[in-house]
Parts: sequence; structure tokens; C-alpha cells
Amino acid sequence: MPSVIVHSKPTIGEKEFAAAGRYLKRGELTMGAAVEAFEDAFSKRHEGHLAVAVNSGSAGLHLSLLALDIGPGDEVVVPSYVCVALLNAVGYVRARPRVVDIDLDDYSLSPKALAEAVGKRTRAVIVPHMYGKPAKMAEIRAIVKEYRLVLIEDCAQAVGATFDGRPVGVFGDLAVFSFYSTKVMTTGHGGMVLVSRESLARRLRDLRAYDKKPSARLRFNYGMTDFQAAMGTVQLRKLASFIRRRRAIARRYTTAFAPHDVEVPIEDPHRLSIYYRYVLKIPRGSRSFLRAMNEEGIHCTRGVYRPLHRYMGLPPRRYPNTEGAMRRSVSLPIYPGLNDKECRRVIEAARALL
Ligand SMILES: Cc1ncc(COP(=O)(O)O)c(C=O)c1O
Repeated sequence: MPSVIVHSKPTIGEKEFAAAGRYLKRGELTMGAAVEAFEDAFSKRHEGHLAVAVNSGSAGLHLSLLALDIGPGDEVVVPSYVCVALLNAVGYVRARPRVVDIDLDDYSLSPKALAEAVGKRTRAVIVPHMYGKPAKMAEIRAIVKEYRLVLIEDCAQAVGATFDGRPVGVFGDLAVFSFYSTKVMTTGHGGMVLVSRESLARRLRDLRAYDKKPSARLRFNYGMTDFQAAMGTVQLRKLASFIRRRRAIARRYTTAFAPHDVEVPIEDPHRLSIYYRYVLKIPRGSRSFLRAMNEEGIHCTRGVYRPLHRYMGLPPRRYPNTEGAMRRSVSLPIYPGLNDKECRRVIEAARALL
């Protein structure tokens, strides 16, 4: 019986062990020098935008909405085809989610659906760059400008991806990253908020920690530990090589699968994907493919567990692209630690089924 190929796996080595270990040995554990160093390094990678480290992407989304004063009575547009963390964040501040459909070419929020959804109470839109490919930022920014919305970029899946040569995270009023264990770079749990306005960064920093404050205003315990931040700095240094390997695997997959009756991810030099996920679309539906691959010991998933409109009991017919993506998509193993032999096994098993 061949060994199992897992769907995602972090790439952690001696440098991360040493960096985290240094802080553990010193007993410097929380919100100290390593966190500041990680924030500085992250900022340098993102055109000098200010970086505020938090303990998850969810915490980052929550603080972003709070810092922008979004709350009851406000509406926040989110795509349906995404992790439920977005719905949670809107719920934390008691705003109303306005769930819209995606485009099938990139699985990200449809600019047309956004424009149609904007109403009197719409204040903000959260735009995830799905599966590592930048969303249609030019169109989305034009709509955001026209209706004077706030743009929150959700870069949880796309750290290091570029739109017209610039890194994602510098286009929104705020941007949120996740360093959860399945993500492209990881600190176990963890996240970062990126912002260009100093006043917003100050608010985020104030809300992130509750101790020794002059007032009893509601604050949180969302800071990062130093050993995680030390690990994050090392992961950030390795990010370019992680992305190179992911893109190399994606090229191999695309060459292998393009002749078959499937849709492979579309490459666009203006919107460079880091291939957080490599997602195929199988026209007849992905159910039997998924079952067969998993039986072979090659773990594949649907990419999104359950779309938001289904959690909310909204009619599926209003989300035809999300429904289509749920029915037809399949996410294959892709990560730097996936070796050439494993890649070949994925390709051979998948081709036999296509
Ligand atoms: C697009 C997106 N946004 C936000 C999150 C939430 O991040 P975290 O798990 O760090 O809370 C996730 C899931 O990890 C995600 O995929």
C-alpha cells in the first residue's frame, strides 16, 4: 500500500526551530521584540504599509471592522464561496452580511455582483484573493470608489501574490493575512493586518491588547507570541522559494491535465497566483473523482467546505457560480514539500480518472 499524500503540509525546518527556541529559552513569550521584527519585515515586503500582528486571520478581520467603525445597521458585502470566518467577522460586530456570487474564472468575488449588491447601508466589501490568485482589483476598486465603500482585502490565501507587479495587501483600506497551519507561510495560528493610514494602525494596536489602558473601552487579547513571530520571520524569508516551488508544481499539473476534459487554472501575468490551492474543474462533477483519489491515498478536497449562502439558508439559485464551483471543483495536493515522485503519483492517479 503506497503512503498517503496529504492535501496540505507546512514546510518548517531547523531555522524555524532555532528562531522559536531562542525566544522560548529566554522566556520572552508575548508581544515583544520578535513580534516587532516580524511586523517590520512584513511591512518592508508590502511597500512600507504598517503591519499589525494578530493571533489569527479571524482576529484580523474582526479588528479591521472595529477599527473602521463598522457595526449594527451597516452592511458588508462578502462572496459566498469562501471560508466561514468572513461571516463570523461580520457577525462579531453585528453588521449585516450581504452575500454575493463569484466569477467562475477565478473563484473570487464578481465585480458585477458587487455593483448590483450595493445599497444605502453598504459600507464595506471584503475581497478574498481565492486560492492564491489576486481578485479583479481594477474593477473592484472602481466600484469601491464610485460608491465610497471601504475595501478590506482578504489575503489569507494569497501572501506574496502580485497584481500588476504589486503585492496583494496594498490595494485596500485594510488587508488581512492568515498564518494558519495550512497556509502558504505559517506560525501555527496567526495573522497580520496591513494598513497605510497611521491612525488606523494606532486603533488596531489599541484594540489588539487590553492591559494597562486608560479607559474601560472594549478591547481584545489578539496579540501574537514571540516564538510564533520568530518563526514567521523565517517563513517570510523563505516565501519566495515556497512560491517558486508551488508554481513549478502547478506548471507540471497544468501540462499534464490540459489535454483532458477538465478546466485547469487560468494563468495571468497581471494577476500572478501563488497557488495556495491547485483547483481543477471537472465538468461532470467532482464527487466520484474525489472519492477515488482519497481511496488511492491522495487526499483531495472541494476547496471550500460549505458556501456562506447555504449556511444562511439563502436560495442556491441566486448563487449559480458558487453552486457550480462546489459541484465541479477539486483541490489537489500542492506544497513545497511535495516531491517529484509524489507529483507524478498525483498526476497518474488523476489522469486515470479523467
Ligand atoms: C479567505 C480566508 N479568510 C480568512 C480566514 C481565517 O483565517 P484564520 O483561520 O487564521 O482565522 C481563512 C481561513 O483560514 C480564509 O481562507
